Amino acid sequence: MRTVSILGATGSVGTSTLDLVEREPDRFRVVALTANCDVERLAAAARRTGAELAVVADESCLPALRDALSGTGTAVAGGAQAICDAAALGADWTMGAIVGCAGLRPTLAAIERGGTVVLANKEPLVSAGDIITAAAATHGATLLPADSEHNAVFQCLDPTRPDNVRRIILTASGGPFRDWTLEQMAAVTPAQAVAHPNWSMGAKISVDSATMMNKGLELIEAARLFPVPPERIEIVIHRQSVIHSMVDYVDGSMLAQLGPSDMRVPIAHCLAWPERMATPMAPLDLVKLGRLDFEAPDALRFHALTLARDAAEAGGARPAILNAANEVAVAAFLAGAIGFLEIAAIVDDTLQRYDPAAPETLDAVLAIDAEARRRAGERVKDCVA
Ligand SMILES: NC(=O)c1ccc[n+]([C@@H]2O[C@H](COP(=O)([O-])OP(=O)(O)OC[C@H]3O[C@@H](n4cnc5c(N)ncnc54)[C@H](OP(=O)(O)O)[C@@H]3O)[C@@H](O)[C@H]2O)c1
Repeated sequence: MRTVSILGATGSVGTSTLDLVEREPDRFRVVALTANCDVERLAAAARRTGAELAVVADESCLPALRDALSGTGTAVAGGAQAICDAAALGADWTMGAIVGCAGLRPTLAAIERGGTVVLANKEPLVSAGDIITAAAATHGATLLPADSEHNAVFQCLDPTRPDNVRRIILTASGGPFRDWTLEQMAAVTPAQAVAHPNWSMGAKISVDSATMMNKGLELIEAARLFPVPPERIEIVIHRQSVIHSMVDYVDGSMLAQLGPSDMRVPIAHCLAWPERMATPMAPLDLVKLGRLDFEAPDALRFHALTLARDAAEAGGARPAILNAANEVAVAAFLAGAIGFLEIAAIVDDTLQRYDPAAPETLDAVLAIDAEARRRAGERVKDCVA
């Protein structure tokens, strides 16, 4: 019996994780489930799984959660610190599926208890990757990547022999606007941006996929997780989203991981690791699929790719600034305050005007994150004015 906690249990990744956990009640027991404020979904999941604890980050939602779970035996709590406390309960296996840098402290709290911590939540790795990997080494925690690309690389790469690796190749669907002109992209609405052609995901990552910032964040994430520098990590457009990423070895062998575009596949890999578990997905029908296509990404239309690669190669504070400004700009776009192309423009502007020294502590990362958010927020106001 493996004990499991899910941070961000009401989101897209959290729901997929719950689906797998609930299929095997003899194998997994739920300790803690957390959300921001989706009380209905959180309480329903806690009831179904008999979770020990349910937590909302937004304290104003705690009374509703208390009502919804009264008499069930599930304890409730609220507030940002309560999310960290839930993460620190020490489940054998913790899924980090909060969206954005809000997941940074909870992820670290889980890591500090040891055990296995599964990283779907990519933004903390982008902003504070060195701190996260160092904490895992100090506390003996095992980090597993759930992001489909990194999970694919994890399955294909031998980290003990990095010199044998020539390149990591991350695949990208190209998002919903891969064939659109810049003129068309200037008029994109939030509804169009969240309608991803291949994957069903939360709003923020869907917009990131549409700008291709998601692939840029993944490039940084890959350089944090694997012993391969950003210069040797390439991005290729692969519209079918069947190959989730590849590792190219010096002898000319290239290993790829293929699978359906459903997050339950990489999550199941992490949930059962180092074993395997069955999922409800039908096996790939290669004959029906017929072909796999690849093309180079267009850095001109997808400026976020260049910004992210530059930040990855420069290191220091650049990834944290990139991520913070992007979170602010995406939220402003989803709220209808700025246009689609202004997302990358605001990130670019924030990076150009703010160049602090490399952070060495968590507090320094959080201070840079806060200042970058403030500056990006000012740019959003300029756009609105
Ligand atoms: N979706 C995918 O297929 C996918 C694939 C790879 C990686 N990822 C990464 O996984 C993470 C989650 O993505 P998602 O698509 O599952 O997001 P999502 O559907 O928006 O879900 C986000 C989750 O985080 C919770 N949350 C939001 N703000 C919070 C806060 N301030 N404090 C605590 N919890 C908070 C939400 O609670 P409420 O429901 O109460 O708001 C929800 O449970 C992201 O970092 C994303 O980049 C996602």
